Amino acid sequence: MQQKKGTIFSGMRPTGKLHLGNLFGALENWAKLQDEYRCFFSVVDWHALTTAYEDPAEISENVKEMVIDWLSCGIDPEKSIIFRQSDVKEHAELHLLLSMITPLSWLERVPTYKEQLKQIEGRNLATYGFLGYPLLQAADILLYKADAVPVGEDQAPHIEFTREVARRANYLYKKTIFPEPATILNEYKVVPGLDNRKMSKSYDNVIEISIAPEKISEKVRLMITDPGRIRKNDPGNPQICSIYAFHHIFNAAELSGIEESCRAGAIGCVECKKVLSSRMQEFLEPIYARRKKLENSPKIIDEILEEGRKKAVKVARKTMEEFRSLMGV
Ligand code: TRP
Ligand code: SF4
Repeated sequence: MQQKKGTIFSGMRPTGKLHLGNLFGALENWAKLQDEYRCFFSVVDWHALTTAYEDPAEISENVKEMVIDWLSCGIDPEKSIIFRQSDVKEHAELHLLLSMITPLSWLERVPTYKEQLKQIEGRNLATYGFLGYPLLQAADILLYKADAVPVGEDQAPHIEFTREVARRANYLYKKTIFPEPATILNEYKVVPGLDNRKMSKSYDNVIEISIAPEKISEKVRLMITDPGRIRKNDPGNPQICSIYAFHHIFNAAELSGIEESCRAGAIGCVECKKVLSSRMQEFLEPIYARRKKLENSPKIIDEILEEGRKKAVKVARKTMEEFRSLMGV
C-alpha cells in the first residue's frame, strides 16, 4: 500500500436519508481524501441520541441507510474504515476520562450549544448529554489520534474545542499523547433546495441522494427559476435561478451556453429544466444502481460494519491503554 499522509476522522449522525447537499458538501470531499489518508468514517449513533433520545426507534435503521448512501457515493470499505460509533465502547470511556479534565465553561461557550438550545423547539435539551456532545466528538477524534478532520464550517468550533482538550491532556500528563487535529474545511458546491433556500432537511426542500432516476424530472419541475421571467423570451437572470446553480454542478460543459441563452431569452425555463433533468439522471443513475444492489444483499452492510468495527477497535484499544495508564487507572 502507498504511504498515507496521516489519519482522518469524520462522522455523521444517522438522522435519515442523505440529500444532494450532503453529497456535494461532505461526501464528495471524503471520497477524495480516501486515497491520501487513512480514513475513519463513523456513523455516530450516540450523537444522534443526544437530540433524539425520546424517539430512538429509527436510529438503528438509519445507520444502515446511511452506510448505503455512503457506499453508493464512493466511500469505499477497501480504502476506509467504516464503522458504527456505538460498536466501539472506547468512545464512551475516553469521553468519560476527558470529562474529568474539561472545564465546564469550555462546553458552555461552544457557539452551537446556546444556538441549538434555542432553535430546537419541542425537545428538552437541557441535558447532560447535550451539553457534553462536543466532548463526545472530541473523544471520537482523539481516540484515533486523527491528524485532521474534514467538516463543514458549522462544525469548525468543535474541532477548535477538540484541539484545546488535546492540549490540556498533553499538558497535564506531560506527554504528547494526542495530536492537535487540523480542520479541513469541506469544499462545497452551492446546492439550493426546491424552494431556493439552502437545501436542508429542516426546510423540507431536499432531493435525496437515493432518488429514483425517473422521479428526478418531477422534482426539477417544482424548482423555482428567475421569478421575473414571465414569457419564454423574456431575458432571464441565471444568477438568481436555482436551476442554473444545478447546471453548475451537473452540466458544467454547457454552462456558458445556458447562461447566454437565458440572458438572451433564447431558451425557455421548461426546456432548460429538461436539459438539467437528463444530466442529473446520468449522474445519479449509477449511484442509484449501486444502492439497489446493496439493498438486495443487506448482509453486506452488516459485514462491512463488522469489518470496520474490528479495525477501529484495534486502534481504539491501544489509545485507551496508553491514556488510562497516564490517568492512573
Ligand atoms: N457533530 C457532527 C455533526 O453534527 C458529527 C460528528 C460527531 C463528527 N463526531 C464527529 C464530525 C467527529 C467530525 C468528527 O455533524
Ligand atoms: Fe433559470 Fe434556465 Fe430559466 Fe434561465 S432559462 S431562468 S437558467 S431555468
